[in-house]
Amino acid sequence: MRTSPRPRVFGRLALTGLSALLLAAAAVAVGPAAVSEAATPTDDACEVSAAEVSWGFKESFRSYISGTIAGGTWEVTGGAGYQTPNFTWTGGTGWYDPDTQTGSVAFPGGIRFTGHGGLLDTTFRDPTLEFTGPGAARVHLDVSGVSMEEALAGGTAADSVSQVPFIDVDLTTATIDASRDGVTIAAAAAPTAITPEGFAAFANYEAGSAFDPITITVTAVCASAQTQTPSPGPPTAPVDAAPAADSRPADASPGWISWAVAAFVAAGAAVGGVLLARRRGTGRNARTGSGGAA
Ligand code: HEM
Repeated sequence: MRTSPRPRVFGRLALTGLSALLLAAAAVAVGPAAVSEAATPTDDACEVSAAEVSWGFKESFRSYISGTIAGGTWEVTGGAGYQTPNFTWTGGTGWYDPDTQTGSVAFPGGIRFTGHGGLLDTTFRDPTLEFTGPGAARVHLDVSGVSMEEALAGGTAADSVSQVPFIDVDLTTATIDASRDGVTIAAAAAPTAITPEGFAAFANYEAGSAFDPITITVTAVCASAQTQTPSPGPPTAPVDAAPAADSRPADASPGWISWAVAAFVAAGAAVGGVLLARRRGTGRNARTGSGGAA
């Protein structure tokens, strides 16, 4: 991976002036615990401009749902898509810091699995892809539904948890292409496994069980020509441009009048000096008698 020092836009633009004050006020109001590490952009973060994720969730679960046992189906909601065998999310927003290889990209949309005549009704929604450092990421999900244990016991109480770190993603074979202006991350069929937190939220697969591989593309903008501070160049000659019509006070004199007055005063001073010198010369001659008859 190539990383070179470069100006970044997201952190500086997003956390300047009033917004920084408002964020500081909000942090005081809600306390630091309300903002997770993953959601806090670093100072040098780049702004995500495009992001897509393609993931089949778990092939055996899809087979179970669509097969004769569960006799169910699934639907995508809120902007997610499905094209066999993968669910897709697009339009991710967030940040990425190529120096630390950390970041957070949130996607809208979810999957609702149903089966067993409605007893099974589980939704996984709004994934957040968290880059946790070199070669590693996680996908956080909102998870809600009735557990199999509850359903088999005849209950209908649903559990609902927000942004559970659901799967770990192995990004050791991902490509990270960082240039002066931006960064692109591409991971094709990266291996995934359910986390202990994921198992707690969806208690059907032991922690560490393999889930479907995930394909990720993230593009982030780190700087643009418009936002860079121009380096000081050689001094340039003043441009002989006409001033704007309203750029001069109404009672101000045009520049050429000042020059004419100055030239007139200088010429007058020169003439006066010559005359004075000649007068002094004449007086001196009179006092010494020079120039006259003896
Ligand atoms: C009364 C309702 C239910 C019955 C009778 C039932 C029955 C079963 C059976 C027989 C299997 C084994 C399938 C196999 O090995 O091929 C299974 C697997 C499974 N069930 Fe259920 N189930 C019920 C409700 C639920 C609910 C509410 C959930 C919650 C999401 C659930 C999640 C699962 C999962 C994740 C598997 C493993 C699928 C896989 O092979 O990957 N079940 N269920």
